[in-house]
Amino acid sequence: MLEHSDEGYGDDDDAENTNSRCSTEATDEDIIEELDTKDTGDAQLDNTHVPWIRLDREVYFYAGHKINIVEAMDSHGGVIWPAALALCNYLETNTDVIDLKGKQVLELGSGTGLVSIVASLLGAQVTATDLPDVLSNLRYNLLRNTRGRSKYTPEVTALSWGSEVERTYPRSVYRYDYVLAADVVYHHDLEELLVTMKYFCRPGNTLIWANKVRLKTNLVFTEDFKNTFNTTLLAEMGEVKIFKATCKR
Ligand SMILES: C[S@@+](CC[C@H](N)C(=O)[O-])C[C@H]1O[C@@H](n2cnc3c(N)ncnc32)[C@H](O)[C@@H]1O
Repeated sequence: MLEHSDEGYGDDDDAENTNSRCSTEATDEDIIEELDTKDTGDAQLDNTHVPWIRLDREVYFYAGHKINIVEAMDSHGGVIWPAALALCNYLETNTDVIDLKGKQVLELGSGTGLVSIVASLLGAQVTATDLPDVLSNLRYNLLRNTRGRSKYTPEVTALSWGSEVERTYPRSVYRYDYVLAADVVYHHDLEELLVTMKYFCRPGNTLIWANKVRLKTNLVFTEDFKNTFNTTLLAEMGEVKIFKATCKR
């Protein structure tokens, strides 16, 4: 599924240029306007809207499309993690179990955006979320790979885990059929993540959580997760487990 592209994004000159050219935040319209003037297939990527030092470009094939992902240094969300690949694989090969066509989908901790891109290519109306610092690269990858291919234009927005979500995403306005999360459990405070999962997992919708098991804390979280929701283990792909959860009434 992965084709490695060696375009030398990591050298110092590129890094300096990237940082200086990204002093102002681009809007969706700016990015779309730029993409309008470019070939969205194999064209050389432009790093105008990527504020970090680039590491590399990765090429994947999912849902019948070639997907170019720009990775970046300096945050956990800048690179693709194993659970994202496993979840993309699961989603594209199990549309009979999880049919995303026309569904409202929220992704937590989207990182580079691969999972949201695949969900969008599979027909979902996607909202990809992450911490503010990660959004520029996420937005770039999402628009770059779904424009002209997806029925619904995906949204990219900030969402920090914790009780604040009740204020920023009021229940009266936001409702999702599926909540997706890949490799969101690693070395950080997991209480806020569980609070957020609980907030978005409501009667009638489904949470899909994929994670590579790394640390003892992962196992503790998995136990808390199982105690909090009705859970089913959908798949095990190597060290990655994919769970389906619904809320306990
Ligand atoms: C290990 S990365 C996984 C990225 C992506 N899902 C993947 O699998 O490739 C974890 C992601 O969670 C995000 N994250 C970490 N803490 C967060 C928080 N408190 N609120 C929102 N997102 C957070 C990070 O920015 C990062 O994008």
